[in-house]
Amino acid sequence: MKGIVLAGGTGSRLFPLTKVTNKHLLPVGQKPMIFYPIEKLRGIGCQDILIVTGVEHMGDVVTLLGSGKDYGCRFTYKVQDEAGGIAQALGLASQFARDDKMCVILGDNLIHDSLKPFAEDFVSGKSRSKIILKEVEDPQRFGVAEIKGDKIVAIEEKPKSPKSNFAVTGIYFYTPDVFEIIRTLKPSGRGELEITDVNNAYVKEGAMSFNIIENWWSDAGTFESLAKANELVRQKPPLP
Ligand code: G1P
Repeated sequence: MKGIVLAGGTGSRLFPLTKVTNKHLLPVGQKPMIFYPIEKLRGIGCQDILIVTGVEHMGDVVTLLGSGKDYGCRFTYKVQDEAGGIAQALGLASQFARDDKMCVILGDNLIHDSLKPFAEDFVSGKSRSKIILKEVEDPQRFGVAEIKGDKIVAIEEKPKSPKSNFAVTGIYFYTPDVFEIIRTLKPSGRGELEITDVNNAYVKEGAMSFNIIENWWSDAGTFESLAKANELVRQKPPLP
């Protein structure tokens, strides 16, 4: 399986911390934020990992990570020219992924649980996509999955009246047909290609599976969540 870390965006919610650096290079615990998704991908055996980031700080990202030899993997880098959304960033990965299944992690997502059981389930299973959900108290901040029985029936991006408390985390598993879906997307109201539209395309075709994580998960894209992520990492460090 190929690994992909999406580390673009302007980090506007963390300004002025992000004035001179990329959000994903900010410290969480004793490491730069981007180390956490990379370690998760290494934990499920990904050796080929693509990092997608913006033009402004690509140099710093490469200076930090290098070829990957220090981490026992190979990094490939792709530039996202403008902040055109998570799905646009993922679209840049098509030549890298080729015919392989992939695990995609948003660069500001931190998670305690090992991704191994989910990855094994996805590799051996028939479903063409998988998302990881976490029950939260503030679902309005996230993509939210509406679940009936053992199926997701719809995902809403940052709904005002969420239909459940299950947030869609930034951990996604896809087959290479994801690139065909991305090619059909139209920009959302905020002018971006939305990952939620990609996931809803799979949901509509009955081709989306999911798992729920029990332990902690946090994004780190706001001052509040960055502080929380630091605290969680200190109290209960992520498993490999
Ligand atoms: C993005 C996704 C959202 C998801 C979240 C997880 O939101 O659009 O569906 O729940 O990541 O971190 P963003 O943080 O870019 O606003």
